[in-house]
Amino acid sequence: MGDGSRLEIIILAAGQGSRMRSSKPKVLHALAGKPLLAHVLETARGLKPDTIHVVVGHGAEAVKAATHGQDLTFHHQAEQLGTGHAVACALPSCHSEATVLVLFGDVPLMSGTTLARLLKENPTHPTMLAACLDDPTGYGRVLRDENDGFAAVVEQADATERQHSVKEANTGVLAAPAQLLSTLLASVGNDNAQGEYYLPDALALAVGQGIPVGIVVTDDPHEIAGVNDRIQLEALERDLQHRLADALMRTGVAITDRRRVDIRGDLQCGQDVEVDINAVFEGRVILGDGVRIGANCFLKDVVVGADTEIQPFCHIEGASIGVGCRIGPYARLRPGTELAETARVGNFVETKNTVLGSGSKANHLAYLGDTRVGENSNIGAGTITCNYDGVNKHPTTLGAGVFVGSNSTLVAPVTLADRAFVAAGSVVTDEVPEENLAVGRSRQRNVSGWKPPGTGEG
Ligand code: UD1
Ligand code: CA
Repeated sequence: MGDGSRLEIIILAAGQGSRMRSSKPKVLHALAGKPLLAHVLETARGLKPDTIHVVVGHGAEAVKAATHGQDLTFHHQAEQLGTGHAVACALPSCHSEATVLVLFGDVPLMSGTTLARLLKENPTHPTMLAACLDDPTGYGRVLRDENDGFAAVVEQADATERQHSVKEANTGVLAAPAQLLSTLLASVGNDNAQGEYYLPDALALAVGQGIPVGIVVTDDPHEIAGVNDRIQLEALERDLQHRLADALMRTGVAITDRRRVDIRGDLQCGQDVEVDINAVFEGRVILGDGVRIGANCFLKDVVVGADTEIQPFCHIEGASIGVGCRIGPYARLRPGTELAETARVGNFVETKNTVLGSGSKANHLAYLGDTRVGENSNIGAGTITCNYDGVNKHPTTLGAGVFVGSNSTLVAPVTLADRAFVAAGSVVTDEVPEENLAVGRSRQRNVSGWKPPGTGEG
């Protein structure tokens, strides 16, 4: 029997998830920007187990690739013969004295606290986690004996009309001594509606042998929710997003509508941050005090300094934005963009691997790629850096106080020194020295007395 000192976690992730109707293995579908399995692994790691086993089958290669580099022991379940069979695939490599904790790859939000409670219950006996649900449709139901102890789990497909009215659901999570679980599973049959080896049947066998089975009940339907189809996935996503939004609001963030915000990663906010509707945050995003995010913005891996305003419809990725900047509406900041304090990037401006110095502006319709701009420079409307010659990328360097007139083309590599001034419509191919005016365009010629075609004689 296990003495509780060694913990091995078995995560079941071999099922196809046929109800998702997807070519992707179910456990790789994303919840809050992360695969379902990644949520389970994070919780599992929090319990500091000696080993984490993952039972894979359907899409095994994809699942392994998605967890590449993590310290996991994989077991291949060639045919998905049921949850009991899946656990039996991993058990032979568990230490016989270990306590085994079984988690399902499609139940992503189990709380570490609940699992710790389950593990503390009785290390020498099996213990299962149950939950009372308003609508337990689809879950196995927990049947109790006359003393209110565990008797069995009956699956939805096998349950009688009366058993369907039972509100207590099997979460799938259980803890048991490895050796005992192994012995019990060897006797589980597959004579049921689905022709599968059911894991909970091992618990009923234990009771039959006089081994009591503990039941820990959680009252949080959120943490036990399983994802079997896209409707359940959507419901769980919205539920999780509401919780994330509520947590932010409790720390002082103003969120216009908790139903219209999506956090798919780690979002850290200072005080008095405002987030308007339909903002999507991915990866790691840090917003300083007083930052305002307008409607319909997408931010991925971005740091935003205090009091910066991001106006509606901006797409920002891999950027570092200083204090007091103004961006958008309709700006696209690509990876490697760095804006110093009070810089401005306006509508239909795209930046990539570009640094804008303090107080510099690119307010309208420009492309700045591989560009360094000093302080207080102004990039006119329609300015384009030609940074790519079809093979290599070349840099454009602008000093401080530079003025680039509208519709100019800066052909990289090229340098414009401090206070250089470029006449509108120029094509700049050579360096512009300090305080020089560059006029890189043909002169205007007027033809007097000219008549448009069809209006003259002859
Ligand atoms: C299972 C439980 C049910 C419980 C519910 C909780 C069984 C028989 N039923 O039902 O009592 O209420 O979870 O969410 O245990 N898997 C494998 N190999 C297999 C079969 C399944 O690895 O051969 C994996 C799946 O990938 C999935 C998990 O086990 O991650 C659960 O399987 P699923 O078919 O979704 O079981 P449910 O019908 O949801
Ligand atoms: Ca399931």
